[in-house]
Amino acid sequence: MVFQYSLIASCTKTRARAGVFSTPHGEVETPRFMPVGTVGTVKGITPAQLQSAHAQMILGNTYHLHIQPGEEIIEKAGGLHNFMGWQQPILTDSGGFQVFSLADLRQITDDGVKFRSPKDGRIINMTPENSIRIQNSLGADVIMAFDECPPATATKEEVVKAVKRTTAWLERCISAHKKPEQQALFGIVQGGIYPELRTQSAKELIEFNLPGYAIGGVSVGEKPELIHQIVQWTTPLLPSNKPRYLMGVGSYKEMVVAIASGIDLFDCVIPTRLGRHGAALVQGERINLKNAQYKEDFTPLDPECDCYTCKNFTRAYLNHLIRAKEMLGYILLSLHNIYELINFTRKIRQAIINDSFVEEFGHYLN
Ligand code: GUN
Ligand code: ZN
Repeated sequence: MVFQYSLIASCTKTRARAGVFSTPHGEVETPRFMPVGTVGTVKGITPAQLQSAHAQMILGNTYHLHIQPGEEIIEKAGGLHNFMGWQQPILTDSGGFQVFSLADLRQITDDGVKFRSPKDGRIINMTPENSIRIQNSLGADVIMAFDECPPATATKEEVVKAVKRTTAWLERCISAHKKPEQQALFGIVQGGIYPELRTQSAKELIEFNLPGYAIGGVSVGEKPELIHQIVQWTTPLLPSNKPRYLMGVGSYKEMVVAIASGIDLFDCVIPTRLGRHGAALVQGERINLKNAQYKEDFTPLDPECDCYTCKNFTRAYLNHLIRAKEMLGYILLSLHNIYELINFTRKIRQAIINDSFVEEFGHYLN
């Protein structure tokens, strides 16, 4: 059945779980990291390379794709899958986060958010109805509710207001959603750093019996310990027979802590952003390939890694490419970084199935 979450195995010592989430474009084995393809491309990486890195579901952004090229063009192309040549699952974020973090001259009201397009300066009115209409045109397998994500600097009153708005906007998203059979609409829990507001938000959202739920408003500038607490409070409140997605988180420790609380899906721009800056995630550390120490290092980037980059090239070559500002350098590093984070979640999934999650990954939990 489409949009079914099937439990495969549960950890006996934590709430970690391994599952399969089915979508019209195939299955997603969870827990899993999802690479970000903001404007309809995971920057620098072809769909064939994404497949070789075991990507299953990838992200697109309503905000960016609406501004450029516009959803009309993507709909004419037969939807985002056909437009970008990716026939596996896609999730689109609603714009509710990007509008708050990127747009200029925003005006937030109960109706929605008005902002100036960075492309041509025209005023764009993003509302729950508009976000869902655009996401229906893009045709991703999972679409996200249009939510209000307050910054870490927000007062408690502002967070109270954002929780209320997010629930009211969810109701409007559900009414506007034209394709519930083809596209699963996920709700997004807000509530900042306040347990009672997180609880209220989760309870209000669950009433709508959606096919999946996300935790938003995390990693917006609060301390890492708070991220852990928010996730540990909120995740157990979400239905166990639906996928649970922690938005915008993709560091090792945060993912392990979240998985131990029962999170299934993650996304983060980190792997491609680091790659574009000449850096790589190697055995849990960030290394900068531009450093002189790699100039004559003829070993693989990560000798333990099975990605295309590590199987075929040396650190010395990558050092040369980055110093020469060659595109291939950034591409090979991005590819490795994506492989690394997806593979990290694949190894965790296997450990959950073997019931060795705490033995293998427990050191991240301290
Ligand atoms: N991406 C990271 N955090 C969020 C959030 O709170 N809301 C949305 N829509 N996207 C996000
Ligand atoms: Zn590699």
